[in-house]
Amino acid sequence: METSPQGIELHDGPILLRAWREDDAGAVYLACQDPEMQRWLPELPRPYTEDDARAFVSEAFGHGGYKFAVCEHGTVVGSIGVWLANHETGHIGYWCVPEARGRGITTRALRRACRYALDELHLERLELHTDSDNMPSQRVAAKVGFQREGVKRSYLRHPDGQRRDSVLFSLLPGELR
Ligand SMILES: CC(C)(COP(=O)(O)OP(=O)(O)OC[C@H]1O[C@@H](n2cnc3c(N)ncnc32)[C@H](O)[C@@H]1OP(=O)(O)O)[C@@H](O)C(=O)NCCC(=O)NCCS
Repeated sequence: METSPQGIELHDGPILLRAWREDDAGAVYLACQDPEMQRWLPELPRPYTEDDARAFVSEAFGHGGYKFAVCEHGTVVGSIGVWLANHETGHIGYWCVPEARGRGITTRALRRACRYALDELHLERLELHTDSDNMPSQRVAAKVGFQREGVKRSYLRHPDGQRRDSVLFSLLPGELR
């Protein structure tokens, strides 16, 4: 692993996690048109514009957020980020492009990002939230060793005002699978 934040490259088999680049904006724009993304990620701007994608890929790496493009054979297939919080904890979020789903890519990416967060960022607790009906995301979390802590009632607010429950998962050092 290199020391410069922009140069960090994390590998897991054919999967590479690297910092976002300006020329990834088109792939992010296309991915964020997917109705499943809009269904499960209430924080996504609607409509999601090319300017939104350019802003997403140009946000600074580190300094509170470690956002990685997930690549397979040089193509962007997803996103995973670790956001730092108080008390040496971190929050994780992810998505995968529709065409690449169901092949274990996000499971690999999450496992690698968690190893980085625990071993290199020295975080002592990682959290992630999913909509209570988002079974693929909950399955990804469980496969990597996250423990289901419980339901946060009415935790999510969608742009149309709809409120949804969220499931809280956490991972502690020694639990990564
Ligand atoms: C959630 C998401 C990131 C998963 O990415 P992925 O690369 O397809 O995930 P993986 O292939 O590593 O694993 C998916 C798992 O979910 C399972 N799964 C898929 N649909 C399912 C369903 N309806 N019910 C239960 N499990 C399901 C798959 O079988 C697989 O588990 P398995 O390996 O035990 O068979 C992807 O579906 C996505 O981007 N969704 C839209 C955005 C999103 O929901 N982001 C997460 C917000 S918390």
